[in-house]
Amino acid sequence: MAAARQSDHPDKPFYQPAEEFFPANNKLGLTFDDITLATLYSEILPRDTQLDTTLAEGLHLNIPVISSDMDTVTEARMAIAMALNGGLGLIHYNMPERQQLSEVSRVKNHVHGLIQEPIKVTPDESIGDVLALIEQKKFGFSTFPVVDKKGRLVGLLSGHVVKPRYAKKKVSEALTPRAQVHTVRKKDLGKDPIARADKFFTEHIGIHKLLVVDDDDHLQGLITMSDVERITQERNAQFKPARDAHFHLICGAAVSATRNAFGELDRERILNHVGALVERGVDVVAVSTAHGHSKGVGDTVKVLRDAFPKLPLIAGNVTSAAGVEFLADCGANAIKVGQGPGSICTTRIVAGVGIPQMTALYVCSRPAAKKKVSILADGGITKSGDIVKALTLSQAVICGGIFAGCNEAPGEVVEISGKFYKQYRGMGSFAAMKAGSAARYGHLPNPTLKVAPEGVEALKEACGSVDRVLAQLIGGIQSGMGYLGAANLAQLRELARYIRVSPAGMREAAPHDVVELKTGS
Ligand code: XMP
Repeated sequence: MAAARQSDHPDKPFYQPAEEFFPANNKLGLTFDDITLATLYSEILPRDTQLDTTLAEGLHLNIPVISSDMDTVTEARMAIAMALNGGLGLIHYNMPERQQLSEVSRVKNHVHGLIQEPIKVTPDESIGDVLALIEQKKFGFSTFPVVDKKGRLVGLLSGHVVKPRYAKKKVSEALTPRAQVHTVRKKDLGKDPIARADKFFTEHIGIHKLLVVDDDDHLQGLITMSDVERITQERNAQFKPARDAHFHLICGAAVSATRNAFGELDRERILNHVGALVERGVDVVAVSTAHGHSKGVGDTVKVLRDAFPKLPLIAGNVTSAAGVEFLADCGANAIKVGQGPGSICTTRIVAGVGIPQMTALYVCSRPAAKKKVSILADGGITKSGDIVKALTLSQAVICGGIFAGCNEAPGEVVEISGKFYKQYRGMGSFAAMKAGSAARYGHLPNPTLKVAPEGVEALKEACGSVDRVLAQLIGGIQSGMGYLGAANLAQLRELARYIRVSPAGMREAAPHDVVELKTGS
């Protein structure tokens, strides 16, 4: 490894470290597919690589992947899935402030394995109604908690009585009464609810469901034995959930540089909102805009830094060293790099600005190291190889399109010609700006048709769970690190050597001259 870096080594003129490669290519903006990484002697097996990354004091992820603050990507469900996998979700701000607060609360109060809003039935429904509900919603289960109009637990409707022969009977006649239902109070679940539930199921032979109630017997959730068993197995997994010091999942939230009716920064509103987010336990706030190297964003970061000295702050987006220095001096801990690389972005076409992502990352990474801030590679990532390349110059990546087709992304699945899709739109698309994100692009809250959108509305093919997508991405990152002999992300940054790829080289990199039967994913 050291030999390949010596100045007279035959590899040296071809495969160059970042500080030689990027200045030597400074006349051209390069992105992921324009370069490839050279392999090095390795004693590192992919499965032994460590992917944890620290973005700021008190903000540590177990995998370097963040889901984007977009209204078709990250709300509570996505943020929970990201944190459970060791990453981070940034809750978008294209919703009323109160709703954003409750999305953050949902993540922070998430108890793994606890179904917080189980499907319930009421005593006056008939078994026939319940059967119809199962059929209509395609539920794969048939046991339901029974609650009264105030949400208080009155019993459990067990699957073995939900049969067509009892269709005319009332739920009240068929339920297992409250006194015989096993429950635990939410406050008694303790720090490790899964261990508590696991012990309960071992001690109560044949019981597969444990209902969670509050002090007034309102139903608060449901824990199933099968979930507990799955989670207990997952605990042996390599990448642990990303949690705060109180064992809660971590969660981020985005804010914009909000202006008042006079066009001035609305400091009071921003401070009140971020104060409320902090009260809910938010772990990091991102000041998310298309142009981070601007007075409004700088002032917002300064105001937040003064008011919340310890709160990790992300700010962006920039693509220049001056932009990084500016935001770092204002008090940001991590800086989003990316202008126009996103799969739904049209900034480069509409505004004629933006820099291909690998060049932007290099230019930003050097001052970031000096200022001791992190770099987040935001946008343009379509495959795990892009993430490996991005991580040679950054501490984490932010992805939108890769996660927009997942079950956990907001929005419904739609079927078109037998294929399933989810909506994915740019925050600078006209529809998203109308819904509230206009400030991100420096426009007034209610944009008119005169405003030029900088993003498109699109569809992504439905792609299953975040767990599945992340498993593929992480496998790819670990492979890349194995090829470079990097045991951790710091070594990956240290060891990376680059070479440019010709158009023919790019074609060679993808499957070619075959009839593909199955895609790589
Ligand atoms: P990917 O490629 O992961 O990109 O889909 C997601 C990132 O794109 C940015 N973003 C936009 N950029 N116009 C833009 O120029 C838009 O409408 C837009 N919406 C999102 C954002 O940085 C996100 O993380």
